[in-house]
Amino acid sequence: VTSFPSLKRGIPALILAPMEGVTDAPMRAFQSERGAFTFCVSEFVRVSQDVLPAKVFRAHVPEILRPGCATESGTPVSIQLLGGDPARLAASAVVAVGAGAQAIDLNFGCPAPTVNRHDGGATLLKYPQRIRAIVEAVRAAVPLGVPVSAKLRLGWDTRDPIHENADMAAQGGADWITIHARTKMQGYQPPVFWEPIGEVNTRLGIPVVANGDIWTVDDFRRCRDETGCEHYMLGRSALADPWLPGRVARELGISGWRGGELDSDRDLVDWVPLLTRFAELSRPTSHGSGYTARRMKQWLRMASQRPEFRSGLERVKLCESTEQILTQLAQPSFGLQRLA
Ligand SMILES: Cc1cc2nc3c(=O)[nH]c(=O)nc-3n(C[C@H](O)[C@H](O)[C@H](O)COP(=O)(O)O)c2cc1C
Repeated sequence: VTSFPSLKRGIPALILAPMEGVTDAPMRAFQSERGAFTFCVSEFVRVSQDVLPAKVFRAHVPEILRPGCATESGTPVSIQLLGGDPARLAASAVVAVGAGAQAIDLNFGCPAPTVNRHDGGATLLKYPQRIRAIVEAVRAAVPLGVPVSAKLRLGWDTRDPIHENADMAAQGGADWITIHARTKMQGYQPPVFWEPIGEVNTRLGIPVVANGDIWTVDDFRRCRDETGCEHYMLGRSALADPWLPGRVARELGISGWRGGELDSDRDLVDWVPLLTRFAELSRPTSHGSGYTARRMKQWLRMASQRPEFRSGLERVKLCESTEQILTQLAQPSFGLQRLA
């Protein structure tokens, strides 16, 4: 088993974003077998009153049972922890590593009110010293070969705190940081502010991953021009445009794409083979077809700005099983036949 693909200056990387309730194990398996991503970050695993037992990690991140904590196609998964208590986070990280984790990411960006009330996620953006203390505690607790990274937003309600918070994460010993180019108060609303990422990237001695609103190759190029980063993270757009990860990987000079022709006109996407594969990959989770159908609908909602969905999404909404969804998508009236 090779070690985790730690980020290094001079070696570009593309990372699948953690998205709670979206990039679960079947979605990570789907995205990673297409070959664009260097690694994935798991959905957050919350550490509140107790140190987490290994079974929690096995349930949230089943890849932990596989060699190298990797998806079936061999893409490693970093495990993200969320919480506010350095000692409990550190002890939980030790349990995760004992159970097979190869890298730990720390969440300093989650805007959910319940999470913030319980002292985790973006709340910590208001307390630079606590960011440092958490990173330091986790870094000290796990072996040096296990990278520890931090994922930050620009700030709580202003953009300036990113400078001090990034410094604190680096001083705490983070191997790299990811910056989502929004404040907490913005939630997921535009606009993103990539420029501060560039300022941090120029100054900080550790790798910086740029994240937020890269929906097209043009967005990617503008983000690269503004930030100068070599490392990027894609979230919602990887689902909305199944070819974007391949195209961005190509821009970065990353080989390994296995998801098909990148240059044809992809005005319309044939979702049937993609969702069929996703259903196949979802089968081992034993959540049942209703669960997988809801996940498919969620995915199609993310893609719903695309032309093929202008009239079709309503019909998919009424479907209750994966089979019904696939049947609807295959209807000539859905517009997909124009793909051929
Ligand atoms: C539904 C959803 C769930 C998310 N869950 C997490 C999470 O568990 N941990 C985290 O660090 N970020 C989480 N994020 C933030 C994403 O990782 C990412 O920073 C954000 O979506 C911006 O990137 P994008 O514009 O490429 O989607 C979530 C975002 C969405 C939309």
